Amino acid sequence: MSEIESIRSKFIQFYEKRGHIRIPSSSLLPENDASTLFTSSGMQPLLPYFLGTPHPQGQRICDSQCCFRAVDIEEVGDNRHTTFFEMLGNWSFGDYFKREQIEQVFTLFTDVMGLDPARLYVTVFAGDQTLGLSRDDEAIATWQQVFATKGIEAKIGERIFTYGPEKNWWSRSGRPEQMPAGEPGGSDSEVFYDFGPQLQLHEHSPYRDQPCHPNCDCGRFIEIGNSVFMQFQKTHEGKFVDLPAKNVDYGGGLERLAMARAQTPDIFQTEVFAPVIKVLEQKSQQKYSQLKEADKRAWRIIADHTRSSIFLMSEGLVPSNKEQGYVLRRLLRRSLVQLRRLDLDFALLVELVAPVVAQYESEYPRLRTQEATIVAGIKRESQKFAATLRQGLREINKLTQITGEKAFFLYESYGFPFELTREIAAERGIEVDEQAFLAAKKHHQELSKTQSAGKFRGGLADHEVQTVRFHTASHLLLAALRKLIDPTITQKGSNITGERARFDFTLARALTSEEIAALQKQVNDWITADLPVTRKEMPKADALALVGGSVFADRYPDQVSVYQIGQDTSCEICVGPHVTHTGEIGPIKITKQQSAGSGVRRLYLYPASATA
Ligand code: SER
Repeated sequence: MSEIESIRSKFIQFYEKRGHIRIPSSSLLPENDASTLFTSSGMQPLLPYFLGTPHPQGQRICDSQCCFRAVDIEEVGDNRHTTFFEMLGNWSFGDYFKREQIEQVFTLFTDVMGLDPARLYVTVFAGDQTLGLSRDDEAIATWQQVFATKGIEAKIGERIFTYGPEKNWWSRSGRPEQMPAGEPGGSDSEVFYDFGPQLQLHEHSPYRDQPCHPNCDCGRFIEIGNSVFMQFQKTHEGKFVDLPAKNVDYGGGLERLAMARAQTPDIFQTEVFAPVIKVLEQKSQQKYSQLKEADKRAWRIIADHTRSSIFLMSEGLVPSNKEQGYVLRRLLRRSLVQLRRLDLDFALLVELVAPVVAQYESEYPRLRTQEATIVAGIKRESQKFAATLRQGLREINKLTQITGEKAFFLYESYGFPFELTREIAAERGIEVDEQAFLAAKKHHQELSKTQSAGKFRGGLADHEVQTVRFHTASHLLLAALRKLIDPTITQKGSNITGERARFDFTLARALTSEEIAALQKQVNDWITADLPVTRKEMPKADALALVGGSVFADRYPDQVSVYQIGQDTSCEICVGPHVTHTGEIGPIKITKQQSAGSGVRRLYLYPASATA
């Protein structure tokens, strides 16, 4: 068993022994959740269960969830940031709370994972007056007790550090004031592993003259796990009220545990990246450990981005200029740019696919079944980018000077990183204004931050009711497609905001406008009939038999919920939530048919009254 498999199974077995049911990893591309492009934490697919829906597998759940954090793209290159990671998670939905969770986590890290307790440091919520919450003394007392069992006196300010909501509060949208209405959150307690003072004193550390503490960014202390005490929900008035139950949401990076167990603060020197680094070493005839810092950074970017791309592409994502596809394109192009910088061939990228597939296929068999598609996709993107580079170079060659704005244009439109533009310019004796480039980039980032904040609000918050309506309407649309067009049609994904639902499904041709009109009429007829929507829990095998199988079968836990509309109008495996009667949806219209890849069509549902 590899180290990764061993960490994963140790974690899962530990929680299974304590009555938790393991659920499979959800897709990296969230279903029915327009609030975010990617699954970036283990709790994200479990949101309904914090808000009160009972989980079909009970109150104790654990898993290893594939996560992708696009916000970390620019951070990759140091010793610890990655965009893709596996988050080990355990949850209590209204079952045990703080004390039991802290005891479990401590036993897990020390007795099960074999970490030296003297290297563990924790942070705890310091309280906050405006929230009316006091310091988490229960967590502090529990940590002191568990450390004492190993002969360690855990003093505040030495081993236990307290922070306000800026550090020790967790919600999907961050600090309390950033949370939209309806969002659940709570204080948390993080565990850090101390890799030792030699790092802090490293001559390159910008922190070498400052005292170090768990939340300092020098790389000495690395977070290995976070227990969120999920007990509040934000109201429309901005107040915090109790959720239906007190929950625990724990998440910790599998890769971080690999670092701590190997006692190396460089994730790229752990088993996680070993297979990829090995190929790079063979091809370049160099040793990772002997690389110059700048080259090390390039290798890390290639290794991280390619691994993430492989996982994303195994879910069917293809590079494009929009949303998730754009992020994938950036990952691949950033890797290609680094290859070019290192004077290595673009073709090297596809050679990294096989080792990653081999490493993860036992846990994620999809990687193997999609391998050929992934390789073809990476080749295609490499060729496209090679052409883009030629075009960009021609563009640059026409210029007699390159302003910061122009450099930003090249960056945005051709994916030319600033360093590349500067290099090319230098070859021709031209200087580029880096400050002006950075200013243009900052301006653009602020714009897109504003847009994504808007996107977040759109998906949840005030529109929550409308989102639920569209969700049920999407089930009706699939039923109508199967009834009127082709009974073998399956869903390929959906994206729902407060304004509209986007629905992708399999069909090798375009629908005619008559067909779209008939679909719209059928869905509206079912809405007018005010059919009841019922939810049942049953074993996965029974559910699959009932709904006639599913392409997502391997992602479902053993016990699932099935939503049925009317007698036999629609029957789907789904986590919900849904309306209770179809009449609540109100009349809808279907617009904007598009292609969403080969063999996949896309339709949009709007309220009939919408002007769009
Ligand atoms: N949701 C928390 C996190 O992502 C713990 O699982 O850190």
